[in-house]
Amino acid sequence: MSNPREYILEQAKLFVRAELQDDGSGHDWWHIVRVTRTACLLAMIEGANVYICELAALLHDIADEKLNASKEAGIDKVNTWLVEAGVEADEQEHVLDIISSMSFGNNSSEPLPTLEGRIVQDADRLDAIGAIGIARTFTYSGWKGQAIYDPELRPRESFTKSEYRNGRSTSINHFYEKLLKLKSMMNTDGARILAEERHDVMKRYLWAFDSEWGLANESYIEESLRFHRNIKRLHIVFDASTLGSLRFALQDHEGEIPVMLEDNLMIGPLPKEHSPQSTNLRLRWFCDRFSNSEERDSWMERLMRASFDWEALPRQFAKYPIVIWAGDSAPEQCGLRRFVANVARDADIQVINATKILNNDRCQYIKTGEIPQHKLVTLLDQGEALSVNEKEKLAYDWHCLTSESTMLRVLIDGELQNVPESYFDHKILEAAFKLGAINGHYCKSARIIGEVIGYTEQSVTDSFIEYRVRELISEGMLQVEGEQRAMRYYSISLTERGLSEVVTMDNPSSLSFVKVKEVLESLVEMHFEQEHLIGELRMLLKNDMLLKRETEGEHIQVQQIIERYQDQSKERGQLLEGLAAEVQRYYM
Ligand code: NI
Repeated sequence: MSNPREYILEQAKLFVRAELQDDGSGHDWWHIVRVTRTACLLAMIEGANVYICELAALLHDIADEKLNASKEAGIDKVNTWLVEAGVEADEQEHVLDIISSMSFGNNSSEPLPTLEGRIVQDADRLDAIGAIGIARTFTYSGWKGQAIYDPELRPRESFTKSEYRNGRSTSINHFYEKLLKLKSMMNTDGARILAEERHDVMKRYLWAFDSEWGLANESYIEESLRFHRNIKRLHIVFDASTLGSLRFALQDHEGEIPVMLEDNLMIGPLPKEHSPQSTNLRLRWFCDRFSNSEERDSWMERLMRASFDWEALPRQFAKYPIVIWAGDSAPEQCGLRRFVANVARDADIQVINATKILNNDRCQYIKTGEIPQHKLVTLLDQGEALSVNEKEKLAYDWHCLTSESTMLRVLIDGELQNVPESYFDHKILEAAFKLGAINGHYCKSARIIGEVIGYTEQSVTDSFIEYRVRELISEGMLQVEGEQRAMRYYSISLTERGLSEVVTMDNPSSLSFVKVKEVLESLVEMHFEQEHLIGELRMLLKNDMLLKRETEGEHIQVQQIIERYQDQSKERGQLLEGLAAEVQRYYM
């Protein structure tokens, strides 16, 4: 081989592959391959000696205790190999330095002395985090015979080297004891950037793990690591979008923990406490109505989870100071009432009504979940403590809501009220009318649903409006074109009956307005067509007349007539605009 360094690297690969062939602890040959690739990349970026990085990365786990009688014996083995492979003396020393300081657990704040050493260490640490890090953690734990997670074994805050190696721990604890700390220990900028995303992957994973662990768990708070630290306040939210924003808003607030009790209590029969039948009734109500909907499974998952969470969690939460995020929307206000009704009157509860605090003439939020994170942060100290009287009132409200058997609740003038589930039907028919879905013209159902949601001040979901659209179709108010099973892709139009509903209600002149609008639109269309034609005529004549110089007099005259015509046309355009505006004002 022409290049001795290449030859040495090839020999190193053969040697390492043979040594680590049978490793089952996550330190196998492919770990070495990944670390080596990352080390070479970082070496390029940092301008380090790529050859030293590659060689050290290949050999970095050879001295490991698992493969050798002792660490010293392991270092000797690497040394012997380096000598026999014919590596230059100074390079031998450099590689050996890197490997021995890495093997002797140089996890202290002291960085490795050479850039190449710092790079190989970064590459090894990067392979311990992220998606691959998660996989390796469970492999290693399994290899050591540890449990996935044991709530009785808490992560250790600090430990000696031998405690770390030999003490009892679990895979999940390993994330807290070591892996989540690695991001801040990276030596090079390149590694820091790569670590960022991998760190987030682990955090998302741990969040999902915790959430699955919490399912139907009566001891969730005692068992979950999320609560095993100084809790200043628990922030209760009622939907995923608020949870997302608040998680972000609270990330630098130690001890302020967001938790979600998710169930859109605005819709459907309300569950009664300690009544499994009412839970089943609620599930069936949703199942029947949304069984053809694309969103059915996500509804069902949320409901199943919520039915247990609501039973078990409020009382567990209420041992801590509570902040309830309840804006002026029916789902949040229902959630607030249900929560308060479920905990002792002496519970320490504050309420932050973010929509009330932030809404003004320029901006109107319909629910907390719409508010950007940076605005939520500013509200953290604006909670208002609930007095015993207020708690009594909220609990009584909940009692009243659950004792009636209506299927929908909305906020009217700030008051939560039970209403018939057909509450939005008129709005749907009106939206269809407004968008011209009449007389055989069809309009996409999604557009009409969007129109209803866009103009209502209620925090209603599109799946509920969609359900009402289907009801209106079966009642003969709307007709449908296209595959109705594919929920979002069919179009609808008002039937005669649907049309008479809209027109006879509070809008008798609507029908003639549609005709007037049609005529106006044709007029505007004709106007633009004329403008276009006269422009075209002008161009044609101009070209021809340029060729015949002797007709200059006629040329000028034609130009003048066209100009007068165009001036008048412009004026007519303005008149049309004014007319349309006046007509609009008249009918609105
Ligand atoms: Ni390694």
